[in-house]
Amino acid sequence: MSIRTGNSEGKITGWGMALGPETITNDDLASRMDTSNEWILERTGISERRIGGTTAGLAVEAGQTALEMAGCNAKDIDLLILATTTPDDQIPATSGMVQHQLGLQCGAMDINAACSGFVYSLVTGFGFLKLGYKKILIIGSETLSRFTDWEDRSTAILFGDGAGAVVIEAQEGDGYLRGWDLNCEGSLRDILYAEVGGTIVMAGKEVFRKAVLAMTESAKSSMTAAGLSPSDISYVIPHQANIRIIESSMKRLGIAKDRAVSVLHKTGNNSSASIPIALFEALNDGRIKSGDILLLVGFGAGMTSASAVVQWGEANE
Ligand code: COA
Repeated sequence: MSIRTGNSEGKITGWGMALGPETITNDDLASRMDTSNEWILERTGISERRIGGTTAGLAVEAGQTALEMAGCNAKDIDLLILATTTPDDQIPATSGMVQHQLGLQCGAMDINAACSGFVYSLVTGFGFLKLGYKKILIIGSETLSRFTDWEDRSTAILFGDGAGAVVIEAQEGDGYLRGWDLNCEGSLRDILYAEVGGTIVMAGKEVFRKAVLAMTESAKSSMTAAGLSPSDISYVIPHQANIRIIESSMKRLGIAKDRAVSVLHKTGNNSSASIPIALFEALNDGRIKSGDILLLVGFGAGMTSASAVVQWGEANE
């Protein structure tokens, strides 16, 4: 386990999101397989999910919105980091297509840390700001529907397609990444995987149990690194996998569950896109105010987990 302390200078200046064009409701799934709206809603909190599009296409849509909000010219971006576990091609990395379609003139790379990928990428981006880059576009984008077995009721109910993006920019003075933590327990590969050309295989109960432990441990490490306690956290932006995983983690952390931002009822699990989509929602509905402290925390196949404590300030607005 790694713990890092110390601020990293930088601020989030733009954000965007995109969802797959087609809506699949729980009733749609119940008409195809032995399940029901009530079961899915009670066991996961998901009502519907959006599918379709390509990983690059969704990333471009989210990235374009983030660039416009930040008032950034595409040519000013120094680096594109695309978190995805569902690339469009085996080779090359999907980030290259996104870089081309957005008109960026910079380096581009994919990061695959499954559902923890956005937080891994955000921390990586802050690291590059320390190395001298000024503006970085970070996107989480996924088309999980392409890797879902639509006959398997234990996984088909969970996943959706979407993308979320942020622009981070270097700034003088106090930084806005106050603490972070990245982990991987590689021995747990078999509880959640898809072979090349295959679909997602998952030991649901085991993933659930590990997810709660991993999220809680990572969140505690980030808060320790930031010198903060649960009572300092304004909002938790968790990975959107299952509302019961979010609520169990909040209980273990001692943070009221109404502090957790949740969008999964209408998105399902969008893997690395789920945290930036939830962040987008909370920023757009005006919930997040200057001075708020956000705890972003995710877990996923690998089994990875990651968290970041971000201070929101006037500089972000
Ligand atoms: N509809 C109806 N019944 C279902 C069902 C469905 N979609 N899926 C499973 N069941 C049945 C099972 O067959 C089982 O029946 P049985 O008792 O007759 O054997 C029963 O419901 C309980 O199954 P179980 O797997 O124990 O349910 P659960 O409460 O653990 O919920 C998950 C299943 C998948 C929703 C839950 O384990 C989960 O969310 N795990 C984490 C998954 C995750 O987050 N993955 C992504 C990580 S990034």
